[in-house]
Amino acid sequence: MLHVPVLLEESLDFLLHDLSGAYLDLTFGRGSHSQEILNRISPQGSLHAVDRDQEAVLYGKDKIKDSRFSIYHSNYSEIDSLFPQQQFDGILLDLGTCSTHLDDPMRGFSFQSDGPLDMRMDTSSGFSAGEWLNSATEKEISDILYEYGDEKASRKIAKAIVEYRSTRLMETTIELTKTIETVLKRTGKIHPATKSFQAIRIHVNNELHHLKVALSKLNDVLKAGGVIVIISFHSLEDRIVKNFFRPQIKKLPKDIPINISVKETYRCIKKKIKPSANEIKINPRSRSAIMRVFSKL
Ligand SMILES: C[S@@+](CC[C@H](N)C(=O)[O-])C[C@H]1O[C@@H](n2cnc3c(N)ncnc32)[C@H](O)[C@@H]1O
Repeated sequence: MLHVPVLLEESLDFLLHDLSGAYLDLTFGRGSHSQEILNRISPQGSLHAVDRDQEAVLYGKDKIKDSRFSIYHSNYSEIDSLFPQQQFDGILLDLGTCSTHLDDPMRGFSFQSDGPLDMRMDTSSGFSAGEWLNSATEKEISDILYEYGDEKASRKIAKAIVEYRSTRLMETTIELTKTIETVLKRTGKIHPATKSFQAIRIHVNNELHHLKVALSKLNDVLKAGGVIVIISFHSLEDRIVKNFFRPQIKKLPKDIPINISVKETYRCIKKKIKPSANEIKINPRSRSAIMRVFSKL
């Protein structure tokens, strides 16, 4: 299945304020945002793209033949070393996973199809979900399921995982799904393994850490007047974004407490944009998306 981009029109309307500018797509995925940026910018414009997933980078190199475009296999938390001399007019972060991750059973992201328990976006480094689940303590597993998945049955699921692995290694997505199903029965539309898979994916990819690091480095690679567009799919991601920018946003004088000096670096252009009812109908994955837009002073 193709990855359907979320908030495509809305994000690019804010991002592309100078069609001859230099742009950076830090989450290339299957390149729908990137391709549309290239469609809109002028021959003088340029686009650099990044993804930590080698498959996404190979896909980009194969599909996009355009002298204004280049793509790099890297983590967005390393933008400062990737672009030491460069500043951009606009930067896009479309967080989370691609639906293409879920579609390939061999990547181990989906509870619906059988595959190795991997879940790494960058398969060239780090530890797989299976390696972690077979070695973490029951408390560590329970804490991650609760913290990143808001899974109320986290303790029971962690206990069931530890019991399962006492006789054999847990190696496949179906083994994990079936273990979760011994604890949680399916009641509504949402599969009982949804929250646990999301939590384990966030942990295995250390997603929140990389987001925090990337945000702290954006200032180095953004021109004055440059725009940052961030699309989050998880309340924890959105909270990190909100809390990072809040103290640095230029406010009206009456809002600045006396005696407190705030380092104002950004202006908030759009606080919170959500997909329209029509977009959610066409692409249900978009329902949890929240977009925020900032510009550098
Ligand atoms: C939601 S998809 C982006 C979809 C994209 N906008 C499109 O139009 O196809 C998120 C992408 O970001 C990548 N990604 C996630 N975390 C990353 C990180 N820390 N550094 C670089 N890429 C990352 C994932 O591998 C995935 O391909």
